[in-house]
Formats: sequence, C-alpha cells, structure tokens
Amino acid sequence: MFPWSAGDGSGAGHVSEAGEEGWDVEAYEVVDLGGACVIPGFVDSHTHLVFAGDRAAEFEARMRGQAYAAGGIRSTVAATRAASDDDLRARLRSFVAEATAQGTTTLEVKSGYGLTVTDEARLVRLAAEVTDEVTFLGAHVVPAEYAGATDAYVDLVVGPMLDACEPHAHWIDVFCETGAFTVEQSRRILEAGIARGLGARVHASQLGPGEGVRLAVEVGAASVDHGTFLADADVEALAASDTVLTLLPGVEFSTRQPYPDARRLIDAGVTLALASDCNPGSSFTSSLAFCIAVAVRDMRMTPAEAVWAATAGGARALRRNDVGRIAPGARADLVQLRAPSHVHLAYRPGVPLVEAVWKDGERVA
Ligand code: NIG
Ligand code: FE
Repeated sequence: MFPWSAGDGSGAGHVSEAGEEGWDVEAYEVVDLGGACVIPGFVDSHTHLVFAGDRAAEFEARMRGQAYAAGGIRSTVAATRAASDDDLRARLRSFVAEATAQGTTTLEVKSGYGLTVTDEARLVRLAAEVTDEVTFLGAHVVPAEYAGATDAYVDLVVGPMLDACEPHAHWIDVFCETGAFTVEQSRRILEAGIARGLGARVHASQLGPGEGVRLAVEVGAASVDHGTFLADADVEALAASDTVLTLLPGVEFSTRQPYPDARRLIDAGVTLALASDCNPGSSFTSSLAFCIAVAVRDMRMTPAEAVWAATAGGARALRRNDVGRIAPGARADLVQLRAPSHVHLAYRPGVPLVEAVWKDGERVA
C-alpha cells in the first residue's frame, strides 16, 4: 500500500474541540486520510449518456484513416429508438456509476439520439432521473426522415419537441456545424429555448471554423463546447464574455483532430472547462483524469489549470458555485487520490488513482 493511501479508517471519529471560525464541528465526521491528496469531485459538464449500441467498428475504421463525420450520429439514433426505456435506463445508470467511480460527482447529460418528439421526450425524462443538469439537444443532427428538409425539422424542434422536453430540461443545446445546423437555424433554436427559460449551450467549431462560438457569446450561452478550430475573433469574443469554452480532449484523441492550444486561450483570458463529451461516436470515455492527462500533454495546460478546468471550470460552465471547489458553503463533493498531489493525474496517465469519492458528504465510491 502507498504511504498516501487511506488507512484502515481507524482515524475516523467526531471532533469534540471547538472548531475554527466558530464552526459547530460536533456536527461533522472527521476522516483521517493519512496525508492523501484530496481534490473537488469532477464536474463533467458535457456528456451524451442516454443511448444504445456502440460504434466500435466506426472507431476502428477511423484508426485506419477514415474521417469522423457527424452522420455517424444517425446509427446511434436508430439503435436508441429501438431500445426500451429499461435498457436505456440500465445503461445510463451504469455509465453514471462508471463516472462516479472515477471521481465525477456532477454530470450534465444531453438528449440527442432520439430526434422525434416521443424519443427526445423519453431521453430527457430518463436523464432527469440521474441529474438536474439535463440538456435538450433535439438539434443534434437532422434525422434521416427529414433529409433535405432541415428547416421543417427546426420547426419541429422549436415547436412540439421543445414543448415536450422543456419540462424535464434545464438547458438547450445545438450542434452548429457544417453537416448539422447553420448559424441562423442555431440562433432560432437557442432563442426558442431561452424564451422558455432554458439556459443555452452550443456545440461549435468541432469539425471546422464557423460562427457558432460568436453566436454562443451573442446569446449569452453558459458554455460553448469543442472549439477545435478557433479564429482570433472567436478568442477575443470569448475573452470579453461570461461564456466558458469547454474543451473536450477525448474528441481530438478519438477523432485524430488537432488539439486546441489551451495555453493560447488561457493567456488571452478565456475561461476554460474540461469535459468528457462521453458518447459512442467521438469520445467514448467517462474519465476526466484521462482528459486532464491529455490536456496537460497535448493542450499545454499546467496540471493545476487542468484540474481547475475539470472541477471549477465545469461548475462555471453549468453556472454553479456549489460544486467544483472545496470551501465552506460548497457541497462536500470530494475525491481522495491514491497519490501525493494532483500532478499525478497527468503524470500517471491511465492509472486508476481515485481511492474514494464523497458526494454531498456521502461516500459513493
Ligand atoms: O459532441 N458533435 C456532436 N455530437 C457529439 C458526437 C456524437 C456522436 O458522434 O454520436 C460530440 O462530439
Ligand atoms: Fe457533445
């Protein structure tokens, strides 16, 4: 056992002396972690965890040289539509358990593999069973039955689909990209959601440069996600805004795209989050430790910046201040590492360093 591993728990007990700053320490359990490093629970502000099937064959073909394309989403849509609620629920819960065991204590979950009123409504309903951070992503891609009729599909999204999904969702999102939705269609979708009280988030500049980042800033989105291809004007707009840029290193890893230069972004004053984007197509990892390691290695973040982005940055991307930090008044979402410092998360990639996880003061892993 490493010297910084948990002891046998014999140090656990209640403090009886007067606490600092007048705290009623009698009310708190004290656990002796033997000097281990403790970080805030990870805040994964971007996942697509309600789906059926997988796309391992697509990944394998990509590793042989085939390019990633948004159209692959439609094969997951077909599998998801064919799955029962119970199947989707069981898979969703197992992904949440997988993420929790790796230190994630707050998760956003998007719909987007249903793309009919009934299917999108059941995906947001299922997502709401596991998190308050539910995002309606009916505008993920145009489904096959609306091929060549994108505007008619947008009518559906901002009409009956939004009506059915809004009661279960906190956020609205759109994939603003060539091959998905134009900037005008995206603006219409985001404004419809905002008018119904949803917060805005945007997928943009994943496959090429575009206007999605500036649209996100313009509508006051909490976060714009991907940012693989950024223009100077995007960076300037982000730096002058409250919109967080959420980087998703698992996507560049799994699609063999260039990594964005986080150093340039931080130096320009952009607030960054790191998230997994866990989905079967572009990034099938639920590990924020992996994302941190790649961000440090390939995006030029320091380990401290990367851990901040995967905790406090994710919280900002969800407009939360009760999670992502260890402070009086914040939720007791804590991760004990089997390591002497946070640096080891990047220094020891692929090694399961999470020893224990507490969510709201309860041990959950
Ligand atoms: O965030 N970009 C769009 N959506 C997902 C990919 C989904 C898929 O390929 O199934 C993403 O990368
Ligand atoms: Fe995504």
